[in-house]
Amino acid sequence: MYSTRRNWLLALDLLLTLLVTSMQADTSEPDKIVLSGSNVTLQISKGPPGNATHVTWLYTTNQKIVEHNPNIPPKYFNSVFKDRVKLDLQSNALHIYHVQKSDSGTYYFRILKNGEEMQWEIPLKVLDPVLTPIINIEKTEELDGNCYLRLSCVVNQSADYLWYKDSVPFPKELQRNTLEATVTPQNQSKSYSCQVSNLLSSKNDTVYFTPPCTLARSTGVKWMANWLAVMMPTILGLLLISDELF
Ligand SMILES: *[C@@H]1O[C@H](CO)[C@@H](O)[C@H](O)[C@H]1NC(C)=O
Ligand SMILES: *[C@@H]1O[C@H](CO)[C@@H](O)[C@H](O)[C@H]1NC(C)=O
Ligand SMILES: *[C@@H]1O[C@H](CO)[C@@H](O)[C@H](O)[C@H]1NC(C)=O
Repeated sequence: MYSTRRNWLLALDLLLTLLVTSMQADTSEPDKIVLSGSNVTLQISKGPPGNATHVTWLYTTNQKIVEHNPNIPPKYFNSVFKDRVKLDLQSNALHIYHVQKSDSGTYYFRILKNGEEMQWEIPLKVLDPVLTPIINIEKTEELDGNCYLRLSCVVNQSADYLWYKDSVPFPKELQRNTLEATVTPQNQSKSYSCQVSNLLSSKNDTVYFTPPCTLARSTGVKWMANWLAVMMPTILGLLLISDELF
């Protein structure tokens, strides 16, 4: 008797679990990938019923961003989004201004329709633009009229590397942060560049080649700027000292 009742309860429990699970089934949108600093509009691509009531946008499942009930203005919750979001009352899209890397994550769009709750999942990935790399000339060595060179591409960030000679990419197998190459008079190039990139941005640095085996940084202007940046404190220091002396 007891055992039958217990089985029945178990069955009921299972049934309820199934019901709740099917009700909460998420509809997931494809990943949206944007650069930090940009403005983003989150929106579901298909489906939202016209007569939705009680619209809610959340960041993760426990941070409400904004809620909208019919005939009253939307309520913006106290969150890191508070002064950076706007709900479009026509389309129910959520505008987020000036997104940061920390805004990455899953957003949820919930509505109530005919008393039933529906939920969509919208993943957002915010990438920082890559930093500008610097080519380090690690070694140049002349041997029998050929030039052996080793360059490294330095950037404080994980990124993909691509080396170029005169704007033509090196073969794929040479694509890592260090480039080692033997240059003959037949296949020498005027310049070597390293390009770093992520999905949405890329930056590069270039060094210039003079036969038989000399490499130099880009332009005199850049060199001057670097020189000034290094020397300025020294110059100011000297001025201060002379000021104290006289
Ligand atoms: C983002 O939106 C703000 C406000 O409308 C605007 O001033 C700004 O220029 C936009 N920024 C970008 C990167 O589009
Ligand atoms: C390097 O970047 C500049 C713009 O910053 C671009 O014009 C040039 O094509 C890039 N060169 C390579 C080899 O990617
Ligand atoms: C230049 O040619 C030499 C000899 O054919 C080859 O070993 C070397 O890899 C080439 N260098 C580049 C940068 O293509």
